[in-house]
Amino acid sequence: MDTKVYRINEKDIDIIDKAAAVIRRGGIVAFPTETVYGLGGNALDAKASKKIFAAKGRPQDNPLIVHVADFDVSRYVKNIPHKAMLLMEAFWPGPITIIMKKSDIIPDTVTAGLDSVGIRMPENRVARKLIEASRVPIAAPSANLSGKPSPTTIEHCIEDLTGKVDMIIGGDRSEVGLESTVVDTSEDKITILRPGAITLEMLEEVVGEVFIDPAINGITDKNVVPRAPGMKYRHYAPKAPLVIVKGDKNRVVEYINNKVKESTEKIGVMATDETCHMYNVEHVISIGSGKNPGKIAANLFDSLREFDKIDIGLIYSEGFPEEGLGMAIMNRLKKAAGYKIIEV
Ligand code: TXA
Ligand code: MG
Repeated sequence: MDTKVYRINEKDIDIIDKAAAVIRRGGIVAFPTETVYGLGGNALDAKASKKIFAAKGRPQDNPLIVHVADFDVSRYVKNIPHKAMLLMEAFWPGPITIIMKKSDIIPDTVTAGLDSVGIRMPENRVARKLIEASRVPIAAPSANLSGKPSPTTIEHCIEDLTGKVDMIIGGDRSEVGLESTVVDTSEDKITILRPGAITLEMLEEVVGEVFIDPAINGITDKNVVPRAPGMKYRHYAPKAPLVIVKGDKNRVVEYINNKVKESTEKIGVMATDETCHMYNVEHVISIGSGKNPGKIAANLFDSLREFDKIDIGLIYSEGFPEEGLGMAIMNRLKKAAGYKIIEV
């Protein structure tokens, strides 16, 4: 398939219209959002969603998120719980996906057979204009090949999807850099199924008590089935194995330096601005200042992809505090590491 690539911003209405025409014809388009780039198709067209699954190599049991540009989502859901409404008013447009019971208009292929649907209104202007111009809701998972880190630049999409999709549009980096918070409002309890930039604390301010699906901390118990099917797959993984080292900063640096000394393998280190000069290794990537979790979130996936360009045998990453946005950062990092964590 010939994939058209257009580097654009929200003023390039002609190109956005072209992309919308592709969506209306049943084609698929990678486009920017503030969280990560998405791979979109008409959410009311089962065939388009099948193309999305095929292009990504995505497991069939992993539902897609439906993206809208209008607050009136009543056609897509059975009912809008009061707390879901409060969340939409507080955080849309923005990095939060709200799960509600789906209506019949949403094909089963989009929700992978579930009776609920996740809906998100992105903030990114290109994304919003694309949805408006398409005049249909857009089903879109992250625009990476399944298993790879989510794409935060148009280059990442080009790397993964050239030849597999009709069109790739965008230009700006995704400023949040982690996928949206997924919140289930379809049951009485409000539950976070995937942490993101809208944090537990922010949600609780709006709807009171919020629960966390145990699967976000890794599936240690075979009886725990994650409610977001996507959470069970090894994700975000760089090619080389990744190990997280957590603890006092100096001890972390000492531990990793010792490992480097003992090892015959080429080792990469993911560190912060404050610590990167402390390592005796050639391949150190600073992910940003440890004082700025927003920067760390924004750089995480790009840094993981950077390691793939270097031929290394093993990556060590420093761990980060898990409060606020740190919960989402560590959730993605732990998954990338296959939950290999060393406490020092
Ligand atoms: O920020 C984002 O959410 C990005 C951009 C493109 O909007 N999209 C994204 O989609 O990350 P994806 O498909 O990579 O991740 C969707 C996650 C998966 O873990 C999936 O299992 C979960 O949301 N999910 C979607 N619909 C669901 C549903 N009805 N019930 C439970 N989990 C659902
Ligand atoms: Mg994804």
